[in-house]
Amino acid sequence: MRALTVTPGVKNSIKLAQIREPVPTASQALLRVREIGVCGTDMDLNQGFYGEAPPGSSYLVTGHESLSTVESIPKNDQGISKGDLVVPTVRRPDDCINCQHGESDMCLTGNYKEHGIKGLHGFGSDLAVSDFNFLVKVPSEVADVAVLLEPMSVGEKGVYQAFKIQERLLWKPRRALILGAGPVGLLTAYLLRLKGLDVVVTATRTKDSVKAQLAQRVGGTYVNTIEQPLQTLGKFDLIMEETGSAQVAMQATGMLNTNGIMCFLGIYAPTEAPEDIGSFYKDVVLGNKTFFGSVNANINYFRMGLKDFVEIQKRFPGVLRDTISMRIAPEDFQKAYSPNKDSIKTVIRFNN
Ligand code: BGC
Repeated sequence: MRALTVTPGVKNSIKLAQIREPVPTASQALLRVREIGVCGTDMDLNQGFYGEAPPGSSYLVTGHESLSTVESIPKNDQGISKGDLVVPTVRRPDDCINCQHGESDMCLTGNYKEHGIKGLHGFGSDLAVSDFNFLVKVPSEVADVAVLLEPMSVGEKGVYQAFKIQERLLWKPRRALILGAGPVGLLTAYLLRLKGLDVVVTATRTKDSVKAQLAQRVGGTYVNTIEQPLQTLGKFDLIMEETGSAQVAMQATGMLNTNGIMCFLGIYAPTEAPEDIGSFYKDVVLGNKTFFGSVNANINYFRMGLKDFVEIQKRFPGVLRDTISMRIAPEDFQKAYSPNKDSIKTVIRFNN
């Protein structure tokens, strides 16, 4: 069968290979993959920065954002059967206390595995396998956008955690800033608009770009920071950092309102900064400000995302669909790895 593979640690090793079909174990479903999404982590895997092949394999099948049809599944209490559409979560637990309580996204040891990233093959192949306890059943009404559920789950977790942490005080957020208009940034913008916040999305594309239009179609404001510097945008109750740029993140820390909260969702490269950290800490203390990081998402956030997708489809028709900028065949995978100025989310379609 066809599979998109990388050799972890080797730059530009992505290729469409022929590999043997996987054989599911007693706790796994066999999935006929419909499509996968390509994200920044996949780019990093192909740069050799990141990634780990399964034990005994020289390659890693990529693809952690996916949508599949169940080809076969053991009897289960998840209500999932052959022919159902499903999205598998990414991370699989180890034996730490968090993992054992359904929060592998909060794994203590770092010994978790991630499909398509760390120690487990991903879903970028004609057939794939996943433990059936980590499958989310997808209703047909959102089938055309369900490949976005994994990136949505990452935004859902960040936002849920921010609100949960803020239960520490009386907090009525009004203004939210989303740094970065990549798919996770845009999906977070849709979500925060559902929650009724005033949302400003910043990035470096022009104001007539599709990304800018998507932010505006949900009632958000789009700012091109090349034309209008961040510092002119005022203060925010909630800041979601989704650019992965340490410099942007540092600049934005000063834009948090009293009692505000900022969530870091990027993977930051080492960056030295000659900032006045004394004043920064003073501002954090005197303003009761909170900064936290968030990674991955357990199955509960996928379920929340699915509910919100139905709501987003109703409130902002076509927005999720238009967040997918291109669908290509596996043979054209290079297009997904050389994004252009119009790319948002590129999806690779394996089977109908
Ligand atoms: C994925 C997460 C994963 C993280 C780190 C992200 O791209 O969405 O599920 O935990 O990479 O590997």
